[in-house]
Amino acid sequence: MSCANVTDCTRQFKCLLVMIPIVFTFFYAFIFISKGFQEKIENFSVVRDRRTTVVTGYFVLTKFQKGNKPLYFSSDLYKRWCSTFSLLLNPLIVYLERNSSFVEIFKKILSKHEPSRYKIIEVERKDLWAFKLLPNITKIFSKPGYPKHPPNTVVPEYSAVMHCKYELMNRSIVENPFKTNYFAWLDIGLFRDFAVSDDPYYFVKLINETLFSQKFYLDVPDNFDRSKVAYTEVYDLSKNMKPCDIVNENMVWVCGCYFVGGGEVLLRWCGEYMRAVEEMIGQHDCVSTDQQVIYWLFSNRKNLKVSTSIQTYTNMSSNVDPWFYLGYLSRRKYKT
Ligand SMILES: *[C@@H]1O[C@H](CO)[C@@H](O)[C@H](O)[C@H]1NC(C)=O
Ligand SMILES: *[C@@H]1O[C@H](CO)[C@@H](O)[C@H](O)[C@H]1NC(C)=O
Ligand SMILES: *[C@@H]1O[C@H](CO)[C@@H](O)[C@H](O)[C@H]1NC(C)=O
Ligand SMILES: *[C@@H]1O[C@H](CO)[C@@H](O)[C@H](O)[C@H]1NC(C)=O
Ligand SMILES: *[C@@H]1O[C@H](CO)[C@@H](O)[C@H](O)[C@H]1NC(C)=O
Ligand SMILES: *[C@@H]1O[C@H](CO)[C@@H](O)[C@H](O)[C@H]1NC(C)=O
Repeated sequence: MSCANVTDCTRQFKCLLVMIPIVFTFFYAFIFISKGFQEKIENFSVVRDRRTTVVTGYFVLTKFQKGNKPLYFSSDLYKRWCSTFSLLLNPLIVYLERNSSFVEIFKKILSKHEPSRYKIIEVERKDLWAFKLLPNITKIFSKPGYPKHPPNTVVPEYSAVMHCKYELMNRSIVENPFKTNYFAWLDIGLFRDFAVSDDPYYFVKLINETLFSQKFYLDVPDNFDRSKVAYTEVYDLSKNMKPCDIVNENMVWVCGCYFVGGGEVLLRWCGEYMRAVEEMIGQHDCVSTDQQVIYWLFSNRKNLKVSTSIQTYTNMSSNVDPWFYLGYLSRRKYKT
């Protein structure tokens, strides 16, 4: 080994000492930049109109009285309301009963949509957890002196359908056919104000510029905390209410008509919800709709060890029905 080589070695060694920090700096700079880049790509591929799967469903019930006023809801009314789904451009899952007339109606209503953006899933009552509870619900509703809040505590099938939302939401998240991070439950009737005709095929027949400009998608609300589930608050929540008192008084805190959240958070919530329904039925011998179950859980949040958090949205002075506030708040105009 010559002297020159030794000098070279030391030089190389020094060089290496200088190089290491430089290489590391570049390495981390690269990671930092590519992270921002990845986020951009994510933003690009998960555009806002495609990041929330909307889930809905409809089960034909015989005409029932809604509330204590002589107001009756029939499936004709729901036929009218469901036409509004032709304006909704989110990835969509619709659960309907096998062979129900609504299957054809929804196929028509969605016929202008990309087939890869929606799924109509036909189910049967006998396969559903909520309908397996029907004999229990019927038995409770027929107890002498049981409160009469039509349809909540009067029509057992109505109660079952309301609980069914959580089972169908759970299934949608597990299957996640559109690979979205967020999921929203949307009742058929929420955007009823856009239903301008009694003809359910109205939008399909008469789509024109005016109607086309009403197309929209639902996105998670602003300031949304991803660790929570969002609902519209309708009335105040009182603490430590007993389940049967909530049913007797027909108490409501949040509207069951629309809720949204991240898949994992909602999955846990659906499980908690479904266990709570069984507990209300099995241990407290009273039951009503989803709204009373949610009231009970959050009125007794600590005692019942509820792990889900709800983020409420409310604006009593907005110009939309206060029950539907979050739905309208989540609405975004669709730009083509
Ligand atoms: C991604 O989108 C969000 C919301 O639109 C925005 O706040 C954020 O800056 C975007 N990130 C990048 C890297 O563009
Ligand atoms: C649905 O309709 C098909 C064909 O009309 C029939 O074979 C089937 O039994 C029906 N299923 C139910 C659940 O009614
Ligand atoms: C579009 O349809 C609506 C509802 O029928 C109607 O009021 C409006 O005049 C139509 N607009 C055009 C440009 O045809
Ligand atoms: C959610 O759905 C999956 C798949 O259908 C099922 O295995 C699971 O038991 C459901 N969760 C609840 C809480 O029912
Ligand atoms: C419903 O009723 C059946 C039959 O009485 C019973 O075995 C079951 O435990 C009840 N379900 C609940 C959730 O209480
Ligand atoms: C509630 O709605 C009204 C009417 O649209 C609006 O002026 C007000 O800013 C809203 N309040 C909040 C807190 O969003």
